Amino acid sequence: MRVLGIETSCDETGVAIIDSQQGLLAHQLYSQVKLHADYGGVVPELASRDHVRKLIPLIEAALDEASCAASDIDGIAYTRGPGLVGALLVGASVARSLGYAWQVPVLGVHHMEGHLLAPMLEERQPEFPFVALLVSGGHTMLVDVQGIGQYQVLGESIDDAAGEAFDKTAKIMGLDYPGGPRLAKLAEQGQPGHYQFPRPMTDRPGLDFSFSGLKTFAANTIRNAEDDPQTRANIAYAFQEAVVDTLAIKCKRALQQTGRKRLVIAGGVSANLHLREQLQKIMTKLRGEVFYPQLAFCTDNGAMIAYAGLQRLLAGQVDGDDVRAKPRWPL
Ligand code: KG4
Ligand code: ZN
Repeated sequence: MRVLGIETSCDETGVAIIDSQQGLLAHQLYSQVKLHADYGGVVPELASRDHVRKLIPLIEAALDEASCAASDIDGIAYTRGPGLVGALLVGASVARSLGYAWQVPVLGVHHMEGHLLAPMLEERQPEFPFVALLVSGGHTMLVDVQGIGQYQVLGESIDDAAGEAFDKTAKIMGLDYPGGPRLAKLAEQGQPGHYQFPRPMTDRPGLDFSFSGLKTFAANTIRNAEDDPQTRANIAYAFQEAVVDTLAIKCKRALQQTGRKRLVIAGGVSANLHLREQLQKIMTKLRGEVFYPQLAFCTDNGAMIAYAGLQRLLAGQVDGDDVRAKPRWPL
């Protein structure tokens, strides 16, 4: 079976083609980062319009890359939610229209399921069951994964997501959008031992997170600090340490609680090298294994949606004829 995957939930237009025998055949991505940069964040209306402009050319490019014709596609998967409603509707409408024109089944996929299954696109894949830490710009959650579609949310953020905390703190520090990777880069120049940020909600039982206090703590720290490059790097370092430590403490707790030996990290923040290193260390100590997607598939992309869609279409799932977007949708 050959599936076209479409991702348009936020500010990346992603298209991919996956084959059940041959694996990933094409992967095309257009990032709207430059379009939103002047505004310091994603402008929903601009995002929708740009998806309209880019989606069809990207689908054509993907078909070219895979050297396949439209008639070779057996199914279409698109991100139904969660995300920006206008942006989601572009992907949903194009998927439905192509499904109708090509007479193939169409399926709306949960964006976070896409992230969760992204490590399956690698050569070394995690076996079920495992614990997944999903860390993106919109979500932070720990999930016990027993198989495709068998997800138990163990804990999630009660306020800001980890990526959102990175982005907001970066903005306070005057770094350009998108701030997360820039803040991580600045932290590389930082030295330990200068600032101590809190590890929110780690002193009480449970697996929920809270990251909004960290940006307030960062704002106060910056206001009272010298304005020189090394100090700023030291603050970025301490902030990143706090987020990574907090995530690591909760991952250990989730593994203890479930007895799982495999940990998957996915979503935009899983591109953070310090987070990857720390979780790798923990899993080595626990004699377990850690899995993450390659960097290109940590942030939003069409390949993860194509993979999730392929699995579900193979299992016989298919949508009705209506065009659906679900801006809010629990996993
Ligand atoms: O998964 P994603 O592309 O979009 C959502 O579904 O939200 O994640 C984007 C988030 C942004 O908040 C971005 O700042 C963060 O992932 N991010 C990072 C890094 N790369 C991306 N955060 C920290 N360190 C990074 N290296
Ligand atoms: Zn995402």
